[in-house]
Amino acid sequence: MRTLTGITPSGTLHIGNYFGAMRPAIDAQARGDCYYFIADYHSMTSVTDAAERRKNTLGIALDWLACGLDPKTSVFWRQSDVPEVCELMWMLGSLTPMGLLERAHSYKDKTAKGISPNFGLFAYPVLMAADILLYDTHRVPVGKDQKQHLEMTRDMAIKFNEAYGETLVVPEAEIRDEVAVIPGLDGQKMSKSYGNTIEIFGDERVLRKKIMGIVMDSRTPAEPKPDADKNLAIQVLKFFAPPDVAADFENRLRAGGLGYGDLKKALFEHYWNYFAAARARRAELAANLDHVEAVLRDGALRARATAEQVIGRARRACGLR
Ligand code: ADP
Ligand code: TRP
Repeated sequence: MRTLTGITPSGTLHIGNYFGAMRPAIDAQARGDCYYFIADYHSMTSVTDAAERRKNTLGIALDWLACGLDPKTSVFWRQSDVPEVCELMWMLGSLTPMGLLERAHSYKDKTAKGISPNFGLFAYPVLMAADILLYDTHRVPVGKDQKQHLEMTRDMAIKFNEAYGETLVVPEAEIRDEVAVIPGLDGQKMSKSYGNTIEIFGDERVLRKKIMGIVMDSRTPAEPKPDADKNLAIQVLKFFAPPDVAADFENRLRAGGLGYGDLKKALFEHYWNYFAAARARRAELAANLDHVEAVLRDGALRARATAEQVIGRARRACGLR
């Protein structure tokens, strides 16, 4: 049972990425056979500065390792170190109807926002399918926004197998209900592109200010708040505080007497402490970048060994060899 997931290095990682994708991926290490990668080819549709891509890629490598990715158990690599993925993309793309790609939410959302579409943006679900299918993946932990891409991946694998015989493993998405959508500072889905993120790692003052700046309503502290469970700070606190502590805050808010300032202060403290050990590990890793490079190089060798088998199978199946 192989688990695989990737994160695009298009910016700094936030707690939506952490609970939606990284945490389930890190937990899956207990089951063994995990493949995790930094999707640097995917960042090319949004980042066009080479230095920025390198910096983001390294930053995400540090984030993953600091948060508990164990490179001894898991294969951890940079997507572009295994360029066979582009070859599989072509094989899959040649079987993918335009209509399927035209229906992709991410493509429709981005073009609706005025981003001028290019081939990369349009073909992105095919590259993502190749990422998954190149490694005989069974499970893919992702946030809910990636559900459609996983369905498209399954379609492509099935089509390939129908055309050329059983070759590719048909994978399944692993989407945890309780963390399917982490809300951002404005209550919408947390996303780099909405500017509403709480980063996993960052400057303490900046992050404190972000959390203390969450906009609440104008009810006085004393007023009871029957809708306490809908409060954004309470919702986010539930990810960081032990259940009884979070429930206590929620009850105090509901009963009246707890001010929003105190609630946000508690949220900040719980969030900050939650990542304290990871923060220390990240600082150590940042002081030892040669080690991080070596980890990625070793991961690329291991990933490539698997990829070569699968691409070989696929080439033979479709008559390229
Ligand atoms: P962003 O929306 O910030 O650009 P990405 O699309 O790079 O994030 O997402 C990387 C991974 O993190 C994906 O698996 C995605 O589903 C997950 N993810 C991103 N935002 C959230 C969120 N707010 N809640 C849950 N999971 C999320
Ligand atoms: N498209 C994913 C995102 O934006 C990142 C990604 C690329 C990915 N390839 C993948 C996730 C393969 C899981 C499996 O979040």
